Order: sequence, then C-alpha cells, then structure tokens
Amino acid sequence: MAVTVLGIYVADLVLFGQKIPQAGETVLGNNFVVGPGGKGSNQAVAASKAGVKTHFISKIGDDQFGRMAIEMYDEAKVDYSNVSISEDYSTGAAAIMVDEVTGANAINVYPGASGAITKKDIDDAEPAIRNSKIFLTQLEAPKETVMYALKKASDLGVTTILNPAPAACIEKSVFPLVDYFTPNEIEASFYVNHQVETHDDTRRAAESLLDMGVKNVVITLGERGAFFASAHEAFFCPVATLKTPVVDTTGAGDAFNAGLAVALTENMSVQEAMAFASATAGLSTTKIGTAKAMPSREQIEASLRGE
Ligand code: RIB
Repeated sequence: MAVTVLGIYVADLVLFGQKIPQAGETVLGNNFVVGPGGKGSNQAVAASKAGVKTHFISKIGDDQFGRMAIEMYDEAKVDYSNVSISEDYSTGAAAIMVDEVTGANAINVYPGASGAITKKDIDDAEPAIRNSKIFLTQLEAPKETVMYALKKASDLGVTTILNPAPAACIEKSVFPLVDYFTPNEIEASFYVNHQVETHDDTRRAAESLLDMGVKNVVITLGERGAFFASAHEAFFCPVATLKTPVVDTTGAGDAFNAGLAVALTENMSVQEAMAFASATAGLSTTKIGTAKAMPSREQIEASLRGE
C-alpha cells in the first residue's frame, strides 16, 4: 500500500548563525545553504526514503528551483506524476534562520506555484489517493484545496493525517474527517487557546482536540518527545537516542509525520508507530537541511535497535 502526500514544494534558503535575529536586528551569518523544502515535499521524500511507495501532489514553476525538486524526487523515488508545472507562477521559497548553537529555526515561506494547487489537481490525483492507505497533508497549500482533498480521502476510506502547520483556522466540520491530527506544541495551543508547555497542558490540549472530533491526536514536543491520545489510550513517547549531535531541527516535524504515515501504512501498533516516527525525526536533525536530511529505512531501523 502507498502514501499520498499533498503539499507545497519550495526552495529553502537557509542561513546559519550564532542566534536567530530579532525584528530590527542584523546578525552576521556563518553559513548559507540552498536546498529543496516545503513541508509536503519534505514529508513525501521522507516517506519514500522510509520505505513506502509515495505519491506527491503539488505544483512547481518551470525554473531552476523546480528542476531541483524533480532531481530530488528521482533520487528519492517519489512518484511525482501528480506534480504539475505552473504556466503562471515561479517556484516559491522559504527564508530559514537556524541558530547553530541549539539547532532551532524560524521560517518565512512563500508557496509560489504551490499556492495555486486547485481542486482539479486533487480530482486528477484521485487514483493515487484511492490506492493509498494514508493521505497526509498540512496547511501550507491553499486551504480550500486541502479541505477538499481531506474530504475526498475520507470519503474514499483512506486514513487521513492532518499536520496543521502552520496553524490556521479550520471549520468545525473538518475535524471529524481527520484520523490523526499532528500539531506541535505551538500549533496545538492555537487550536485550544491555552499554552502547551507542561505535561498537564499537553494532556488537556489533546483531550480538547479529541472533543473537537479528530480520532487520534499526536502532539510533537521537540526535545521533550511526543504525546499520543485517542479515546482508548494516551501516552508520552520519548525522543530517539541519537549517536550524533543535533545540527538543524528544520524539517524534524516533517520527518515525524512521514515516519508516522509509513508506520501506519505498515500496520504497526500506535506505540511502534510513535517510536518509528520519533526515530525518523531524530535522525533528520543530525544533518543540515530538510528533504536532504531525511534518513533511509536502514538508518531508522538501526536507530530503533539502538545502533
Ligand atoms: O518544515 C520545514 C519546512 O517548512 C521548510 O522546508 C520550509 O520550506 C517550510 O515549508
């Protein structure tokens, strides 16, 4: 069985420095890297590298950044037959500031061509969605298209994962279409209107999200791990133990969502799926970049064995 991912592709322009500048401040950077990014695209690459056939639905420009995407999909064996080339827009970009001391980041992303993914693109991709076990999406693509696709996947009986990043208002009727809702702590607090900092906050937020109608909640908590909750069980999952230091946390959420999608496609239990997702995310932080930092299946399995 396959995974279908809907989302944006952009080029990431990444600047590394001793700190992330505040508004009005200039810092002298120490490194600059250009690479493939966009949450949806990162998730598609990560899912494919983690070992499951992956279809990606998106739109790119007819330009150098767009060609960088195609090269990467060929390398990572992502099925990009549903990635169309826009005649009207160039590929978008993300400006990413990374704090090289902690690996933390701040992002401003402009979707460019991916901002023009339409309902027709989703209809055209229906065979891929229908043949998938999991449909995974985020909130960077046009919202009406994302909601249309979630409804279609749900109607087709495909398990849906909504990674609500960046957080944005969602109509109440959409929550019941979501099988797995996967915010980080900042996104979770947007939906529940309280801070998500302590374990108690996290449990309370997950309960509120379940009350809104999603079937399973996974709140990612950065270096504090992740929390799973459903009507039947709730537990914290620790971060994976890493053999190499964290250098860049950008894309760790994408790696986590992809790992979760792959594990659920392979019918792992939720405990196993959370551990698999955490290992995928952890390994992604040990390399610079987003899509380029996604681990292989062999690396994930070795990490799960403690190697
Ligand atoms: O999650 C990381 C991604 O968010 C980056 O690749 C950037 O492009 C933004 O979409």
